[in-house]
Amino acid sequence: MSIAEATQSIKNRRSIRKYKPDPVPDEVIRDIVDCARLAPTARNVQPWVIGVIRDQKLRSAIADLAEYGKFIRHAPVCFTVFVKEDEKYFMEDGCAATMNIILAAAAHGVGTCWVAGHKKDYVSVIRDLLSVPMGYTLLSLISAGYADQTPDPQKKSLDEIVFFDRYE
Ligand SMILES: Cc1cc2nc3c(=O)[nH]c(=O)nc-3n(C[C@H](O)[C@H](O)[C@H](O)COP(=O)(O)O)c2cc1C
Repeated sequence: MSIAEATQSIKNRRSIRKYKPDPVPDEVIRDIVDCARLAPTARNVQPWVIGVIRDQKLRSAIADLAEYGKFIRHAPVCFTVFVKEDEKYFMEDGCAATMNIILAAAAHGVGTCWVAGHKKDYVSVIRDLLSVPMGYTLLSLISAGYADQTPDPQKKSLDEIVFFDRYE
């Protein structure tokens, strides 16, 4: 992949909430999780476990709980990032893994949407639903599948958000 292709894949990514029913191949799923595995973490603690939820009943149960993630029911896959909450930088580490999942999926042509986990009242219920041990907390849910929509949300311009050396 050229530099331009790599950056275009990042720039073209949009949150996808409507999916074709086509399954995501196992080798693609494994490669996506492998990219999460290699994300940066504070002191390299890698304080996570990542669930790949394909079972329809489990996805429907998650969708029922996630008020802004109802579309998880119809996504072929839902990745779940759990982090050890006694690690000081669990939030940053979990976000790094989440973004690696999202960008790796985009590189594979798989659409995703980050659905809030941490701060939501369903954190413990989803942990119990998936039999994840105590000590881990849900950081994010990431629905995934082949896109059946082409959203085009407004984005701030580069000049609006960048500063060089000092903000003026
Ligand atoms: C921390 C975080 C939580 C989010 N939670 C949700 C959510 O619960 N449901 C949802 O549909 N989208 C959620 N999103 C996706 C945002 O709505 C989306 O990224 C934003 O509207 C920009 O659109 P884009 O991703 O297409 O650039 C979340 C994104 C982040 C970073």
